[in-house]
Amino acid sequence: MGILSRYGRFFPISPGSPRLDLGEGNTPLVRLGRLEELLEVQLWAKVEGANPTGSFKDRGMVLAVSKAMEEGARGVICASTGNTSASAAAYASAGGLSCSVLLPSGKVAKGKVAQALIYGAKVVAVKGSFDDALKLVREMAPQLGLKVVNSVNPMRLKGQMSGAFEICDQLKDSPDWLAIPVGNAGNITAYWAGFMRYLREGLIRKVPAMVGFQAEGASPMVSGTFVDSPNTVATAIRIGKPVNASKARWAVKISGGFFEAVSDREILEAQMRLARCGIFAEPASCAPLAGLFKLKSQGRLPKGIKVVMVLTGNGLKDLETPLGMAGDLLEVEADQDAIREVLG
Ligand code: F0G
Repeated sequence: MGILSRYGRFFPISPGSPRLDLGEGNTPLVRLGRLEELLEVQLWAKVEGANPTGSFKDRGMVLAVSKAMEEGARGVICASTGNTSASAAAYASAGGLSCSVLLPSGKVAKGKVAQALIYGAKVVAVKGSFDDALKLVREMAPQLGLKVVNSVNPMRLKGQMSGAFEICDQLKDSPDWLAIPVGNAGNITAYWAGFMRYLREGLIRKVPAMVGFQAEGASPMVSGTFVDSPNTVATAIRIGKPVNASKARWAVKISGGFFEAVSDREILEAQMRLARCGIFAEPASCAPLAGLFKLKSQGRLPKGIKVVMVLTGNGLKDLETPLGMAGDLLEVEADQDAIREVLG
């Protein structure tokens, strides 16, 4: 059962509204005991890679595309660093709408491009950044008669509030910190709105500090200035001009949180650490864990607090980046001695 059935009362939908359902949400909240020992906090991972298209985007897309159907749109359009396009393509197909996608050429993980194409989207690689692609989408959508399903669409953020609802439902409490990667700054804004909604409903007693992590080469929320040529191995968050920057800044400030940047090397180390706990998340998703280790080494991570990290996307979407760091495949003859030798 997807989020429109489980959390419908929190969304602007009526009984007659179209309700898509690919079984999104209800993702695992996994306790990471071994990392807790190193970090001296209580630590959980919200594994959003378990969503139908392998990222948190499905939570917002199911509502945005359902509403587009209700409004009679014939199709949807988005710019994307990959995951939004995969999700938009899947939900548009499920709802019988067309999907058009603008990607920054050469900067999207192959698995995500494959998803958008296989789900049936028209995919255009634009010679420019994600920020350039989003600007074009916003300018062209009205002429093309298409509904924009990037996080400038308020339905996206409303649907993504469900991540916060689930964390509270699963923990039976709210965490002290929510640690989350930040690109276009929509998800951190949505989580904040979700926690605030639960607080207003009396379902939790306090809200967490929102702690947003960016890659050093694409960290406008940390530096306070937009970045013209963002660059990072975490291509999902290779964004220099976040459209939700001011809302996210406000959420972080009033929650008592902060933004922090981590290097590509720290992100890839964190990806390996998580993999050794049995969780394969894409590089962008590992920025929070990289950040927690950085804060710990600087004495800035309070002992004993409850931290939930949002692992936003599945590692299988981007195989090229981590394979360079993993061990080599060992090929031998189909022979017991040869196998024994390589296995040691
Ligand atoms: N993590 C992953 C895996 C993402 O794909 C994104 C954003 C983020 C984190 C950051 O979320 O933008 O709400 O701050 N991906 C978008 C896309 C931009 O096009 O797929 P945000």
